[in-house]
Amino acid sequence: MNFSILGTGSALPVCIKTNDDLSKIVDTNDEWISTRTGIKERRICGEEPLSDIASVAASNALENAGINAADLDLIICATISGDYITPSLACIIQSKIKATCPAFDVSAACTGFIYALDVAAGYFARGKFKKILIVAADAMSKLIDWKDRATCVLFGDAAGAVVLTAGDDLLSIKLTATGDATALSAPNVTGNCPFGQIPQTQPYLSMNGQEIYKFAVSAMCNDITDVVNEAGLTKDQIDYVLPHQANIRIIEAAQKRLKMAKDKYLTNIKSYGNTSAVSIPLLLDDANRSGKFKKGDLLALSAFGAGLTTGACVIRWNK
Ligand SMILES: CC(C)(COP(=O)(O)OP(=O)(O)OC[C@H]1O[C@@H](n2cnc3c(N)ncnc32)[C@H](O)[C@@H]1OP(=O)(O)O)[C@@H](O)C(=O)NCCC(=O)NCCS
Repeated sequence: MNFSILGTGSALPVCIKTNDDLSKIVDTNDEWISTRTGIKERRICGEEPLSDIASVAASNALENAGINAADLDLIICATISGDYITPSLACIIQSKIKATCPAFDVSAACTGFIYALDVAAGYFARGKFKKILIVAADAMSKLIDWKDRATCVLFGDAAGAVVLTAGDDLLSIKLTATGDATALSAPNVTGNCPFGQIPQTQPYLSMNGQEIYKFAVSAMCNDITDVVNEAGLTKDQIDYVLPHQANIRIIEAAQKRLKMAKDKYLTNIKSYGNTSAVSIPLLLDDANRSGKFKKGDLLALSAFGAGLTTGACVIRWNK
């Protein structure tokens, strides 16, 4: 026993910044950003706290699932950029949507949604909970250095959510972690402890882009191959791949190496950039609401991110 997806939701900040907008604040241009990454524009939480966006995504998923917040047994939020370090973003969402169930965050950066799915599957296996809400929400705009053209053009802010009920639609799942803070990291608050001896690092996300690029392509290929095999399927039987949206070139390289048809790969990077944990639930919600998926479709989800973490799974669409 694991889960079935009952409903999906998403929400975006109102502020849209195009590549041309960014070229006014750092030495970059639309041609470089679009050819190297596939990104044309992104949303920024400029006017609203992340918890507002996350709560709207949660409410949309509840409505799509046809249940009330009071029906929830658990809220899991995948985030690395909540309004507070504590309380968790999950607790703030719980209060905003007027739920009363337990709530906690999962921290696995861009892989957070897949990690949260596996945590939820464990709760359903225990048979204790009937309805679980997962919200993925990130405002990477708070973590990046807006003077660093190598990183500030890549990310965007958004929230996506799914409501899960007990079922058998998770056919396989794989998580990995390779602890390494040099490839990609964002420091925590340092405070003003007068006894602190540890040198302070710059307070922004830093990244080795080329190292992550190579890691990402092989992780995506290995993980998708593993979860498809574990599900007892072949790659041809997968109807859609929902890959993490970090760079269109990463997605295309993995797609070519895996020899899967290009039109099976869903993308939204052009409009939203890398939305961290939200990439995949945002793709799910767009596809659900546009009627792209039909009952029984087999979806392969694959993500990678800071940690370094990776995760992939195969889900049967049963809505
Ligand atoms: C970041 C990334 C787009 C950079 O692309 P790249 O082709 O590797 O580019 P490089 O870093 O080699 O930089 C090439 C040149 O472009 C310049 N450059 C970097 N950012 C630029 C920008 N926004 N605009 C214009 N030029 C830029 C660099 O300074 C460098 O100039 P130089 O050759 O004069 O030194 C790419 O490596 C990537 O997507 N990596 C994965 C990152 C990722 O997925 N992170 C999130 C993980 S969840």
